[in-house]
Amino acid sequence: MENVKNYAQLHLQEFIEQLKEYIRIPSISTLAENKKDILNCAEFVKNKLTEAGMENARLFETEGHPLVYADWLHAKDKPTVLIYGHYDVQPVDPLNLWSYPPFEPVIKDGKIYGRGSDDNKGQNFIHIKSVESYIKTNKSLPVNVKFLIEGEEEIGSENLEKFIKQNKKLLKCDAVLISDTSLYAEGVPTINYGLRGLCYMEVELTGPNRDLHSGSFGGAVANPINELAKLISKLQDKNGKVTIPNFYKDVLKLTKKEKDNFAGLKFSDKEYAKELGVKMLQGEKGFSTLERIWTRPTLDCNGIYGGFTGEGAKTVLPSKASAKISMRLVPDQDPEKIAAEFTKYIKSLVPESIKVKITNLHGGYPIFIPLEEKAIKTAAKAVSKAYGKKTVFTREGGSIPVVVEFVKQLKAPAVLMGFGLDSDNIHSPDEHFALDNFEKGIYSSIYFLEEFAKS
Ligand code: BES
Ligand code: ZN
Repeated sequence: MENVKNYAQLHLQEFIEQLKEYIRIPSISTLAENKKDILNCAEFVKNKLTEAGMENARLFETEGHPLVYADWLHAKDKPTVLIYGHYDVQPVDPLNLWSYPPFEPVIKDGKIYGRGSDDNKGQNFIHIKSVESYIKTNKSLPVNVKFLIEGEEEIGSENLEKFIKQNKKLLKCDAVLISDTSLYAEGVPTINYGLRGLCYMEVELTGPNRDLHSGSFGGAVANPINELAKLISKLQDKNGKVTIPNFYKDVLKLTKKEKDNFAGLKFSDKEYAKELGVKMLQGEKGFSTLERIWTRPTLDCNGIYGGFTGEGAKTVLPSKASAKISMRLVPDQDPEKIAAEFTKYIKSLVPESIKVKITNLHGGYPIFIPLEEKAIKTAAKAVSKAYGKKTVFTREGGSIPVVVEFVKQLKAPAVLMGFGLDSDNIHSPDEHFALDNFEKGIYSSIYFLEEFAKS
């Protein structure tokens, strides 16, 4: 296996050049104008899998963006690992805040900059290169491997969920390996055992049938922006608790063991606040910061719009105002139930003078992965070996909605072995990925496959 690692070490520069090519493809899944780039990106991944020595590489069309699949199934009597990742990326606005153009990757201070460099191109490329290092060195893999790289993770993975249900045999495996999360801190090998879920809603308020002169009409009718602001302010109380009825009903209580584990991670509120440029942190009373991010549900406005937002002043009483509101969920909350409670509550708060339209944009279930799983132990050992330190176990505040579907449909454990850093600016300007984590990620993947063969 040291030969395999040597291959990776020797070819690292080449891998990085190829990662740049991958990042250059603007595969933004949410924008219709990038549809061609999405297809190019899927083809790129397919070709890289084939070049790595994977077999049966192909695209599966869906109602949305294509999925890329490949396998290598010659390790007789050995377990099978399904490696999942996503080639789609988030939009890049606001563009003026990027130090380098988002799709022209640049390397600076040991980091590669560009949209998707961490989330998730850099992270799924790790596994393609680990597999390549094996096949080029040994002409074989220690376990059976399947790849499934999708193009709709950033928009909720709806088509992949259908695909999993319909292709259980094709995807059958003993573990699903995913690198789309972060290390607890720089240089700290980390295995993640929980993700939050999501319920993403849009609320549109309509007042008068057209925009009005705010002098001629102001005072006569309700202003939808004013009403929207009032509405949003009622969704949380002064202790940071969400006021939607039954919102916390299914939330699992934190165990003493977990509380102790979190406390052992020695999180500094002060440093965290400083890094984010805020005077102090804020959130639900009665919980530590890590508890709030990892184990408590939240409600946040993601966007709010209506009326005049251009330069200077325009006196207008707008006809419409909207907000995009998302709730991060934790085990055992159910996004469908939460959406129904949210809808009922919003309707009860809106005054009669205003019409309301509420849309459920998408949702995803939270997940909690038992640490006793053999695959988790294997992964913990692998990252520890690559980083030369003891592995820590964390949960994450973000979501990967499809993970629950893999576990449910394939009856296989999910392994969240991520190599990002919270400071990598995912979904934000200047997204980047540390090349050190790219390299150690490849070694971790190599060690994981070797070790998993023993199970
Ligand atoms: N890689 C992230 C998930 C993530 C973020 C894990 C932060 C750990 C820490 C993933 O690509 C993502 O952004 N997911 C979306 C899902 C949503 C669009 C359904 C998210 O969490 O917002
Ligand atoms: Zn993302």
